[in-house]
Amino acid sequence: MTTNALPVAKPVNPNFSSGPCAKRPGWTLEALGDAPLGRSHRAKVGKAKLKLAIDLTREVLDIPADYRIGIVPASDTGAVEMALWSLLGARPVDLLAWESFGEGWVTDVVKQLKLKDARTLKAGYGELPDLGAVNFDHDVVFTWNGTTSGVRVPNADWIKEDRTGLTICDATSAAFAQDLDWSKLDVVTFSWQKVLGGEGGHGMLILSPRAVERLETYVPAWPLPKIFRMTKGGKLIDGIFEGETINTPSMLCVEDYLDALGWAKALGGGKGLRARSDANFKVLADWVAKTPWVDFLAKDAATRSNTSVCLVVADPDVTALAPDAQAAFAKAIAGALEKAKVAYDIGAYRDAPAGLRIWAGATVEASDLDALTPWLDWAYAEAKAGLKQAA
Ligand SMILES: Cc1ncc(COP(=O)(O)O)c(C=O)c1O
Repeated sequence: MTTNALPVAKPVNPNFSSGPCAKRPGWTLEALGDAPLGRSHRAKVGKAKLKLAIDLTREVLDIPADYRIGIVPASDTGAVEMALWSLLGARPVDLLAWESFGEGWVTDVVKQLKLKDARTLKAGYGELPDLGAVNFDHDVVFTWNGTTSGVRVPNADWIKEDRTGLTICDATSAAFAQDLDWSKLDVVTFSWQKVLGGEGGHGMLILSPRAVERLETYVPAWPLPKIFRMTKGGKLIDGIFEGETINTPSMLCVEDYLDALGWAKALGGGKGLRARSDANFKVLADWVAKTPWVDFLAKDAATRSNTSVCLVVADPDVTALAPDAQAAFAKAIAGALEKAKVAYDIGAYRDAPAGLRIWAGATVEASDLDALTPWLDWAYAEAKAGLKQAA
């Protein structure tokens, strides 16, 4: 028996997943009415849509005019793989990893590409590796926002302006929510399904002039499947960066991305989106500050993500439990909130420490996060009562 009172109001939108993320406020299927379905993506109408997606991406993210923007297959993973397989091997590489996705890129480079001259700079969940130890005469691969630990790089100040290597940045949980310093980034990737709440399947690959130069002057020692090839006869295939995709995209997803970009533009572009994520994060941070049972997984406040907010249960009665029991406790919280239709998909990522992960990107409403916090307290109290009963 518990006297734990149910909070009065539920979030209007219970979708707090870290990908695919909540659709923009007000989204309905009608927003996709102008999709040229049943038509070729290479027809004038299809190509124009794809080109518009590239142009609006440049506008909303303030991407320099001399950077190339491509729509590529297989979401963010596809975009990162294209970059790694096409660019690496020309010089040594520093690989930064502090959570699951960064570790995935390390595995790719060390175990699949088998690069000998690869150095891994690693940190555990909740922390960043020593950014001061990076050698910018090497290529550098890193994740801007570690989605599974909620730890991001605080800025790009640690990246040298006069580097000779390339910086390859997986920015899928950062783009549209955090300030990407383009002069410090040579390759940036992201997917549509993250901060803009788009659909899965398509990735964006953004290349600096130096990245293009590498592509045009360096041929990797390994074969490249068609899906990765960005050059022909030693020249960049310009079409890929003007909407002539390598293979067939979903024009329904393209329409949805255009809808999201239109929404973003109306909010004031990147600045407006970043402000929304920051305001969302503040709701959670204010609650964490006054709530003893919960804490951020990210130790340093400057590295706390404003999109994938990762939390741990800090109650000493819970932290004293065996790891399995701690995980079960966090799962009980997430499960109770799902059952109550208050919050979906807020359990920690499968490889991450036990806890909760709440998406606070721009498509989420601050008022919904505000409504969520008393429910988190409620679910915690329920789980704690269960623990006491079992003891
Ligand atoms: C940092 C990061 N990298 C890569 C991925 C994989 O993205 P996708 O499923 O779009 O390929 C994700 C997905 O959550 C991510 O958060």
